[in-house]
Order: sequence, then C-alpha cells, then structure tokens
Amino acid sequence: MSDYKHGKIIGASRSRIDGPKKLRGDAPYAADHHLPNMAHAYGVFSTVASGRITGIDLSEARAMPGVIDIFHHDHFPSLYRTPSTFKQENKVDETRLPFEDAKVHYPGQFVALVVADTFANARDASYRVRVDYEEDEAIATLAQAMERGEPTPHADSGHTRGDPDSAWSDAPHRIESTYVTPMETHNPMEMHASTAYWDKGDLVLYEASQGVVFARNVMAKVFGIPPERVDVRSPFIGSGFGSKLWIWPHAVAAAAAAREVGRPVQLVVPREEMFTTTGHRPPTHQTLRLATDANGKLQALSHDGINTTSMVNTYVEKTGSCTKSLYACPNLRVSHATLPANHGTPTSMRAPGAAPGLFALESAMDEMAEAIDMDPLEFRRANYTETDESLDLPFSSIHLMEAFDRGAEKFGWSKRTPEPGSMRDSDEIIGWGMAACNWEALKMDCDARVSLRADGTAFASCATQDIGTGTYTIVAQAVSDITGLPLDRIEVELGDSSYPSGPVSGGSWATATTLPAIAQAARNAIDALKTYATGDGGAFSGSEADTLTFADGTLSDGNGKSVDYAEVLNQLKLANADGEAHTPAATNDEYSFRSFGAHFVEIRWDPGISNLRVSRVVSAIDVGQVINQTTAANQVEGAIAMGIGMALFENTEYDSRSGRPVNNNYAEYLVPVHADQPEEVDVILLDHPDYAFNEFGARGIGEIGITGLAAAVANAVHHATGKRIRELPITLDKLMVT
Ligand code: MOS
Repeated sequence: MSDYKHGKIIGASRSRIDGPKKLRGDAPYAADHHLPNMAHAYGVFSTVASGRITGIDLSEARAMPGVIDIFHHDHFPSLYRTPSTFKQENKVDETRLPFEDAKVHYPGQFVALVVADTFANARDASYRVRVDYEEDEAIATLAQAMERGEPTPHADSGHTRGDPDSAWSDAPHRIESTYVTPMETHNPMEMHASTAYWDKGDLVLYEASQGVVFARNVMAKVFGIPPERVDVRSPFIGSGFGSKLWIWPHAVAAAAAAREVGRPVQLVVPREEMFTTTGHRPPTHQTLRLATDANGKLQALSHDGINTTSMVNTYVEKTGSCTKSLYACPNLRVSHATLPANHGTPTSMRAPGAAPGLFALESAMDEMAEAIDMDPLEFRRANYTETDESLDLPFSSIHLMEAFDRGAEKFGWSKRTPEPGSMRDSDEIIGWGMAACNWEALKMDCDARVSLRADGTAFASCATQDIGTGTYTIVAQAVSDITGLPLDRIEVELGDSSYPSGPVSGGSWATATTLPAIAQAARNAIDALKTYATGDGGAFSGSEADTLTFADGTLSDGNGKSVDYAEVLNQLKLANADGEAHTPAATNDEYSFRSFGAHFVEIRWDPGISNLRVSRVVSAIDVGQVINQTTAANQVEGAIAMGIGMALFENTEYDSRSGRPVNNNYAEYLVPVHADQPEEVDVILLDHPDYAFNEFGARGIGEIGITGLAAAVANAVHHATGKRIRELPITLDKLMVT
C-alpha cells in the first residue's frame, strides 16, 4: 500500500508526553472548569424502575439557599430528538430526551434538575424535591426479561454458513453449553461531567467525552443550530471504557439549563448514577453448540446470544462477532437478539460483544477439547484458519500461531498435566487455562493539521481524544518520524471539536485512523515549507521544490546546503508552514482486518480457606506494528486487570422485586485492586506490521487484551477444581458448592 519506511521512533518506548501536565494538575478535566458566575446543577433521579411521575413538590427545595431554578418535565425547554438509528449517526444514547414527559423507564432516570449557586446547595436542594410516582411492575433482570418476553432477533448482525444444526446432530462429538454474563458497569475514575456555557447563541461544552466531534454534532441537532456554533472540548478524560463514547442525558440537561438560566452550568453525574444513566455492558445469555469430526476439526458451531436493552432504545451486544471468523468451521451460525428491561440504555464497554462473547466461545472450546480428550491449545491449533470464512477474505496479517507458540513457551504450557486438580503447590491447587483473543481492526475517516513553526517546533492537531491511552504521545511520535524533529519540540492538541475532524476514541481505531492523517499532514507541511524555501527570498530560491529533501528538521538541496525548517521560515518572516490532510476509512474489499492473541492464565485455589486468585498471566498479542512499547503494553496490562475483574468480581445487581440497583457504588461493586493482581503479568507484543491496513502497519490495541481473559481464567479454574463455571463472575460460592 505504501513505500513508507518508519524510523526508530515508531515502536520505541516513550513516556506519555502529557504525563507532566497530569502530575502537576495542569490537565483540565471537564469538571475542573470554574467559569465566572458558574452555577451548578444536580439531578433528582427516579427511585422507581418503571411507572410515571404523578406529582413533583418543589416547595421545600425552592426555599433552599442559592437555588436558581428547578427543571422537570413540566418546566424544560423544547428540544429536538436525534435520529434513533445507529449511534454513528449522531444520536443521544436514548431515543427520548431528558424531561420529555412524565414516564419513568428505569431507576436513575433524571426526573428533575436543580440549578443553584454552588454544588453543595444544588445537591442539598435536590434531596428536598418530592416526587410521587405511580409505579409499574419492573423487569429488573435478564432472567425476568427472558421469562416475560420473546427476544427480538437482529438478523443484520447475524451470520450463517452451511447447515450448523444438522451438522451438529450428525457429528460424532458434540457439546452444548449455555453461558451467562452479568451486567457490568464502566467505572472510570473521572465521573461523567459537563460544563456548559452559551456565548451569543453559540454553545461551548467541556464534556468528559471520548468523541468531541460526535458530541458536537449531537448537540447541534438537539438544539437545532449549525454544528459550527457548537464547540465540545475534552482535552483530558479520566478514561471512559466506552461509557463516554456517546451522549447521555446529563450533557443535554446541562447545556439546556445553561441556556435557560443565562449562566455557565456545571453538572457532575454522581457515582451511583453512573450505574444507571450513563450506560453499561448488558447481561447476556449465550448458547453454544460445537461439534467435531474424529480428528478434532470443528464441523459445527452455533452461538446464539441474547442481551437486555432498555425501554427507550435498542442496543445489541454482538457476542458472536468473533465467533464468525476465529476458527475454521464449515457449518456455523451466529445470532443476536434483545429483550427490554427497565435499565438505562446499555452501551459499548471495552471490547463490546467480544468480551462476553469470547468468554462463552473460549470456554466452549475448552469444553469441546476436553470432550475429545485433546489439549486445549492443540485443539485451537487444529482449527486455525488464515481466511475469514464469514467474509470469504484472507486476513490481512495473522500471527495467531506465533502467539500460541510464544505464549505457551513463556508460560511453560508443555508442563501442564491435563487431569483437573493434578497440579499442586502445598495447600494450593494450581489451574492452568488458556484462551484466544480477537478484535476487529477498524480505520475511519480522519482530518489532521500539522504546522512547522518559526520557533523550531511543530504543532499537530486533530479532533480525536487521548483517553489516557497515549494518543498525544503517538501523534507526536508520528510527527517526529516524518519531520525528524525531536519529541520535545512537538506540541500536540487533541480533544476540541474545532480542530480538524477526528474519530471517537473507541473500537481501538484511534491509532490506525489518526496516525496516517497526521503523517500526511506533516508531509504536506514540509511541501509547503519547500514551496516557501524555493520562492522569492527563500533559502533555496531558484531551486525546484521537488529536488529538496528533508531529514532531522532540515531541508537540503543535495549539493551540501542544509537549512533548518525554522531558519527557512525566519528568513521570510513567516510564522509557520501548514499542512492539512484527509485520510479515508479502510474498506474490506481485499482483506479482513483483525487482531489476534492468546492468554495463558494460572490460578491458585486454596480449598481449605476458599481462596481463589489469578497468580500469573502471559499474553501474546498480534496487533500489527506497535507504535509505542510502553503505552501499548500498558493497554494490554490494563485490559488484563479489567479481564480479571470481569472473571472474578464485576456484577451490577438489580433487586428483582423493586427493580432498583443494589450495588451502585464503589464499595459494593467490586473491581480488582492491587491485592488481586497476579504476581506476574507478561505481555508479549508480536509486532508484525500490517501494511495492507495503513502506512504505519498498526491495528490498534485498546480492547483486545480483555477479550478471552475471563475464559482463560474460567478454564484455569476448571483445571484446578473440575468445576465448569458458566456464569460470571466466578465467585467463591460457585466453587464451594459440591
Ligand atoms: Mo471502546 S468500548 O470502543 O471505548
């Protein structure tokens, strides 16, 4: 695709260039903006799961100090809905807008919004808003949803080839298993927050957002104004894991309130309502059937998934998205269906579809291997394919076998004895499990701008975001790579919708999307500089621009004359030489672009004291070219920690009687802490550039690390205990039952 040859800065280990700002507290997050005359908003959230508001008594709340206004369904400006089709088409993540009517569809729904002079006053007054409800029976859990309704199929995300049902029935070896995953809630450290103000009809919104361009477009539609009159800024966020990809009701409420009260308004979503009104990974119910021939080759594979969605929108958790193409199998079906529940709308959470989907698939692969008495790793090797059979296209680059080999070697897999409970270390039973991991590689449209400046620095901007992953740093690396300027002379600004249009930081596509646009913009900036240099009064006046070469921050004519970029500009009294670029989305006409990998997990189970822990993880990951060893390895290490949470702890619970959330707080919603981390986490990045995908050969790394991890843990637990846990999380009670 490209004859691009990258230098040593691509693939190097570099600390985050934004690190010092964060350490010094100079990195402003959405709620760090304290604007003159700013008011604070605090929500009143529904305490019922389903029903309607029959009355709101504001008398006590209105009398509280500092209260400016209180909004609710009878007192809120009329706004416009956004299209309720696919999210990329710029919609609010619920079909309805906040305060549209008296109906309540889920607990935690905004039912009123108090605006006051201070945060404390707004919150105090919010506690004094009395809301009466007529309460309906709620659907609070996946089990209740399945009892009460028929799932709605979503054929567009399904796939069938061959005849999986007959092939399964006719095969000599087969298994059928059902796996259940719970609702999980994104818990980024930084809470959702909006700081909004209006300036002569223009909206400025500081939003904790993974997608400023998307957010700008949604706000423009909601308020019925051109996108040019909205600016969304999110230079730093305390991560999001998908919960900050789209727009939730609080952002609309904050912007509307700011316009109504004629002052800047800040609204922070309290932690407990981050469990209800800003998305979650929905619970899933997945039925898998696998069958093999006598040689361990898969003959049939079906993966039928159901998830809950909300009453106000449809979100499909595509649990079969990897199953379609990870292994060779002639007869295969993947299907997805949804059931409504009285929850807020679910959304993407790190590796949506794939994380719960590969828990099921890779657990089932382990069960199938056991059924045919084959080593689980050998079973996967036996079903390896270099063709995406769902698209009938070759993978652009696949090194899954190398991931298996190197991961197994480093882990010591060959020393595994297959019998459950057969490996011991004094009181502890050791379990070894493995699983493949898998994620799609996507690349979107992107614009970028790079300027070479008279002070010897370069400036790069793009309206994508760094959500803590290292995007600032790798953008600087790309500029450095092209221009030859050192990293410390490159300034990068992201996270402002007024910059050239960039992608949401999601789907692991920011790297593959942004870097080619940045690189092309840098080349265009150098071209502009060459034009200046060869014009009147320029350092190379009279030469042809295309005879000049560039390296290490200088232009050269090949006859011994070299001039610094800055010098070229200074001679002409020019501030900068600018380059802009647009790079297109990738299409899969020729190739299927996916990333691969393998996790090897050791758990230790002490039955005497019922203690289960993950003691060792080796992960070999094939994501194409790694841009920055440090930030890339961090992504996988973080995903492994999150995967341990998924395997052992995370579970958002609703009371099946009241429909209310049970553990919507940091104390009772368990996430892994330091004490839960393995003694060893070993991340092997295979680092084979995928130049068919983009000029850097990078496929992205944010999500793949969590895929398959929970299955590897469950498989290790089975190896230690003989118990096959098909319902996450793997809590001790499930292991103590005999
Ligand atoms: Mo990721 S779930 O696309 O932020």
